[in-house]
Amino acid sequence: MTVLASSFVQEVQTWAYNWSPVVMMLFFAALIYLMWRTLKVMPKVKPQQIKPSSGQSVSFADIAGVDDAKGELREIVEFLRDPREFEALGAKVPKGILLHGPPGTGKTLLAKAVAHESGAQFFAQSAAAFVEMFAGLGAARIRRLFAIARKHEPAIIFIDELDAVGGRRGSDISGEKDQTLNQLLVEMDGFSGGSGRLVVIAASNLLDKLDPALLRPGRFDRQVFVAPPDVKGREGVLAVHTRDKPLGDVELGLVAAQTSGLTGADLANICNEAAIFAARRRAPQICARDFDSAIERVIAGVQSRRVLNDHEKRVVAYHEAGHALCGELLPSVDRVHRISIVPRGRALGYTLNLPAEDRYLKTREELLDYMTVLLGGRVAERVVFGQVTTGASDDLKRVAEIAHTMVHDFAMGTAGLGRSPDGGVRLSETTLRIRDEERQDLTEEARRAAQKLIVAHRPQLDALAGELLEREVLDRDAIDRVMAGVPRLERAPGVGLRVVAAAQALEGAPGVAVTHDAQPE
Ligand SMILES: Nc1ncnc2c1ncn2[C@@H]1O[C@H](COP(=O)(O)OP(=O)(O)OP(=O)(O)O)[C@@H](O)[C@H]1O
Ligand SMILES: [Mg+2]
Repeated sequence: MTVLASSFVQEVQTWAYNWSPVVMMLFFAALIYLMWRTLKVMPKVKPQQIKPSSGQSVSFADIAGVDDAKGELREIVEFLRDPREFEALGAKVPKGILLHGPPGTGKTLLAKAVAHESGAQFFAQSAAAFVEMFAGLGAARIRRLFAIARKHEPAIIFIDELDAVGGRRGSDISGEKDQTLNQLLVEMDGFSGGSGRLVVIAASNLLDKLDPALLRPGRFDRQVFVAPPDVKGREGVLAVHTRDKPLGDVELGLVAAQTSGLTGADLANICNEAAIFAARRRAPQICARDFDSAIERVIAGVQSRRVLNDHEKRVVAYHEAGHALCGELLPSVDRVHRISIVPRGRALGYTLNLPAEDRYLKTREELLDYMTVLLGGRVAERVVFGQVTTGASDDLKRVAEIAHTMVHDFAMGTAGLGRSPDGGVRLSETTLRIRDEERQDLTEEARRAAQKLIVAHRPQLDALAGELLEREVLDRDAIDRVMAGVPRLERAPGVGLRVVAAAQALEGAPGVAVTHDAQPE
């Protein structure tokens, strides 16, 4: 028996000895096959090469309102087309241009225009394509992108949404993103050859979040802020997007004035919505009222089917009348363009203010006035009905935000000039407490101002609310009728609010006589 067993073991051993190389080879073959399959499944991301003559091309003429960025990019295009003039003076092509700004201001569009106009080879890839689960793959893709571009110099590389890989290093646990970014830094230093006629254009929303090494001269030496357009720019964008639409009695300048703060993408959306409104009316042309509806829809949201009961309607009417009244009386607040108590989006009603011009700086008083307008709705509810509702939650949130930034970011309080806690400066408990009190003081000051205005102008409040309940939407003319003869307050430097007599009340001396002080204490 034992002899039989031992001979069997021996047989197995010899078999294994003879066949082991074959088994091993089969095993490796299976392994290689498996890896090959995995590689096939992995997404292949090739950089997109855009030919200047491609069908969907965008030209610089299609972009309005971002002249600074256009100027910078035009220069690069010139440089790549004919470098002699610049090289004669010893100038080098800038290596990188970083377009940054809020979403929808036209960064991707600018890059497309460069692709069309430069005559250079253009390679585009979104930074998100570099982010992959497999370590080192992102870096390899960057290497490949630059290698391909270098072969076709003069060339432009466009990396969209740079934030995806450009964030500060050290924050990514896996290290894959850092590796990708390091590779980008190395490639931009251009150690691996090329004639130096390779420009990298990148687009990003948040400059603050990007790694400082990316931003130093020699990499993205030019950083161009692509801001939302000003009033002239908005008119230009509207003109671009209505080029192929039949327009009726529309004044684009007026539409531009009504859309302060909106980006190019918003304006494009408004033009499209206006065309849809006109088509729904089966009108042959797009008219001013289509644009009005479109603006309302884009700014305030889609009209909702919520039905309010009579009491709720009264509350909303007084709430909006409170906002509008404060807005009409205070000197630095934009004039009210329209009040509505038709529910839209999440809002039950809204007051639309129209800035007369684009403004870039605000004083403490102007911010306080704005807070007063925001609190006007809540105060009107309290004055009229003796109770408050949940309707003011959005206003209260914005008031809190403004008060916070006033004290912490703009140092409009008294407790030191240090930046906010999130600004990276440590503040003592005492400073924080003082600032907290200051915030509350500012809010209280605004609330008292609103209370004073509303109590003193109760007849106008009632009239506005009454008209709103009757007609649901009040335009500038209707508001003017209610406010006729009521003087707008004025603020002399260093003094609180004063009531200035309206022109018709004081013959010969328009807007000077001081009747009584309405200084918020
Ligand atoms: N200055 C402009 N002139 C004309 N159209 C514009 C302009 N800015 C934006 N648009 C319109 O808005 C659309 C979106 O713009 P784009 O894709 O360039 O935004 P972006 O700045 O790249 O935004 P994001 O940061 O979100 O990527 C464009 O396709 C275009 O129709
Ligand atoms: Mg973009």
